[in-house]
Amino acid sequence: MQKKVNWGILGLGQIAHKFVADLKLIPNATLHAVASTSGERAQNFAAQYDAVHYYGSYEEMMKCPDIDVVYIASRHPRHHENTLLCLKHKIPVLCEKPFAMNGVEVEEMIAASKSNQTFLMEALWTRFLPTTKKVLELIDDDVIGEITGVKADFGFKAKFDESGRLYNQNEGGGALLDIGIYPIFLALLLLGKPEEIKAIASIGKTNVDETCHMLFKYSNNRIANLHASILNETATEAFIYGTKGVIRINSRFHESTSVTLLLNDKEPKDIFFEFLGFGYRYEAEAVMEYLSKDVIEHPLMPHSFSVDLMELLDRVRKEAGIFYPTYDRV
Ligand SMILES: NC(=O)c1ccc[n+]([C@@H]2O[C@H](COP(=O)([O-])OP(=O)(O)OC[C@H]3O[C@@H](n4cnc5c(N)ncnc54)[C@H](OP(=O)(O)O)[C@@H]3O)[C@@H](O)[C@H]2O)c1
Repeated sequence: MQKKVNWGILGLGQIAHKFVADLKLIPNATLHAVASTSGERAQNFAAQYDAVHYYGSYEEMMKCPDIDVVYIASRHPRHHENTLLCLKHKIPVLCEKPFAMNGVEVEEMIAASKSNQTFLMEALWTRFLPTTKKVLELIDDDVIGEITGVKADFGFKAKFDESGRLYNQNEGGGALLDIGIYPIFLALLLLGKPEEIKAIASIGKTNVDETCHMLFKYSNNRIANLHASILNETATEAFIYGTKGVIRINSRFHESTSVTLLLNDKEPKDIFFEFLGFGYRYEAEAVMEYLSKDVIEHPLMPHSFSVDLMELLDRVRKEAGIFYPTYDRV
């Protein structure tokens, strides 16, 4: 029988609800403790999902016995501080994306993981989906030949709400950190780090980037064309162009349940995947598997990948003039 893994959740907002729903699909995962800045929110959340313990402060949860891992679901600007808190107590961490607000914070988080010899991983769940696994297999098997470029977009029409996090510059609002990270993640996964970056953003009246367009150029003339928007719904597809054909990761590509193979001179072929829940269970299971191995990172989402990803986010925002006043530690 598999060992039970006791999860703690820190920050009980929208994504925490979805993550816990998926945790319930994993037979050996237990929702052990939840913590919020609001005691009432923690109590209600615990009652809704049968958490064993609940806390009205993050610090209090650190004293909770038997937590195996904490999922950090606070807003981006708190990821760094919340991660350091858990690691200081030698509690393993799965931290929501974006991992932090800038590269300096990411380096500090990884240093804390190393000095405390405690597991740390960015919750870039798309990496663990069956769809992504299949895409990498198709590329490894040379089905589309040499990759010549990538195109990916992620756009939705966000409700304009100055009090919400998306339109709040101090909360790391805007398209780039919230959803632009997905097209960038895909380009980094498939093509590595670019030699050249061009980026342009439309900055709205609350000073966040409402759209962000990016072009990354690599060796051998390969180019990634990436786009994120909170102003408009876009197709939210990804195309991986190769010398023998194209893989289209169907909408929405970051949570896709199918890909279409568009091989040169052949009929399109759809491939579908089993997909339970929202898709967060795959990253949670990956963490649980590696917790038992006594390592501090996961090979599919290692610390170095998060460093590179944040470096790209930092470079894009510098290039596009995207600015978060309190967190400008590029
Ligand atoms: N992986 C994904 O698919 C996905 C999807 C959505 C979001 N995310 C990421 O998850 C993180 C949380 O997103 P969310 O949509 O869940 O955010 P949210 O609902 O706005 O809030 C998350 C938590 O942040 C704290 N919070 C709320 N209002 C706050 C305020 N005014 N000032 C400071 N903290 C406040 C609260 O923690 P307490 O309960 O402790 O008070 C809240 O529960 C973000 O970093 C986001 O990028 C990931």
